[in-house]
Amino acid sequence: MSTNPSPHLRDLAAPRNFFIGAAVHTGAFSGDESDYRDLLQREFNVLVAENMMKFGELSRTPNTYDWTHSDALVDFAAQHGMKVRGHTLVWHQQLPKWVTSSQWTTHDVQTLLEQHIKTVVGRYRGRIWAWDVVNEAIADSGGYRTDSFWYQQLGPEYIALAFRWAHEADPNAILYYNDYEAEALNPKSDAVYALVCDLKQSGVPIHGVGWQMHVGEGWRVSDGHHQNAARLRELGLELAMTEMDVRCQTPATAAQLESQATSYREAVEFALATCSALVLWGFTDKYSWIPRFRPGYGAALPFDAAYQPKPAYYAIQQALVGTDEAAQAQAKD
Ligand code: G3I
Repeated sequence: MSTNPSPHLRDLAAPRNFFIGAAVHTGAFSGDESDYRDLLQREFNVLVAENMMKFGELSRTPNTYDWTHSDALVDFAAQHGMKVRGHTLVWHQQLPKWVTSSQWTTHDVQTLLEQHIKTVVGRYRGRIWAWDVVNEAIADSGGYRTDSFWYQQLGPEYIALAFRWAHEADPNAILYYNDYEAEALNPKSDAVYALVCDLKQSGVPIHGVGWQMHVGEGWRVSDGHHQNAARLRELGLELAMTEMDVRCQTPATAAQLESQATSYREAVEFALATCSALVLWGFTDKYSWIPRFRPGYGAALPFDAAYQPKPAYYAIQQALVGTDEAAQAQAKD
């Protein structure tokens, strides 16, 4: 059991009408580690499924769905007064083999995607705060991601269609476009900005842009983050930091963990002023995706593998405490 002292993060965030969350690891959440669930509900007021709501995890065989884990997550959140971010309806990864390995007509694929979106969003109508409707549709170079099954089958129109279908299935859900390395000013964030401009101008029901925030050592807020946030908010879109972690070369030294704490502090301070939420991609190093996908890196989250708070946790806590003036100003918003 972790021994981190109160006040817990969600207790500090709530008076500021701010949401601090974490992605939920399927195995840890459904297993017998009560510490995992206890810490989730004690520290966070928003949850997101790391994997359990993705197409390939929900629908492993044609036209069937296994809601076991996603229902448990949504029920747990409701029991503990937590919001849920839905992740993700349309992505080029983690698609079921029965989708990608079959021969389809364009009409078949459009029907299949519409049915998937309306099935999933419809099941959780009124229970999902915000959906990552489309994830990572822009290539790192700034054009459309052309290695996407959906792009190859439907062209770029799949993006607008997905938002329209999600809105039809739950008119009250907040609908996000979500991507990585498009937080500061660069060709990719310019392309994301152009995409969401076009969607807004076309009357597509898009409400927010997610900054994934998978960052490395030494990350700091820059003018580019402020400028990118400003132009997106001028479109009437809200922002969220949706998947934050700060990877370190491992084994991480005390100095690296202090620098990581500064990254988290700056991100929280920025998010309090510009975002609806800051969601971590997990909360304990024990279940982080990083070591498997980025060999030689890890230690990316605010709790260590034994669920003990790291300097990053206390930095987030202090950023949420902030100054009384900031808290009072935020509360009045
Ligand atoms: O569920 C299957 C299981 O049935 C099978 O036995 C096992 C075999 O290895 O694989 C399991 O699926 C794995 C899945 O995680 C659930 O554990 C996949 O192999 C594995 O590739 C998948 O990794 C996830 C990754 O997305 C997929 O690209 C990571 O956990 C997850 O943290 C990561 O999250 C993404 C976000 O969704 C989008 N933004 C980037 C972020 C990091 O890549």
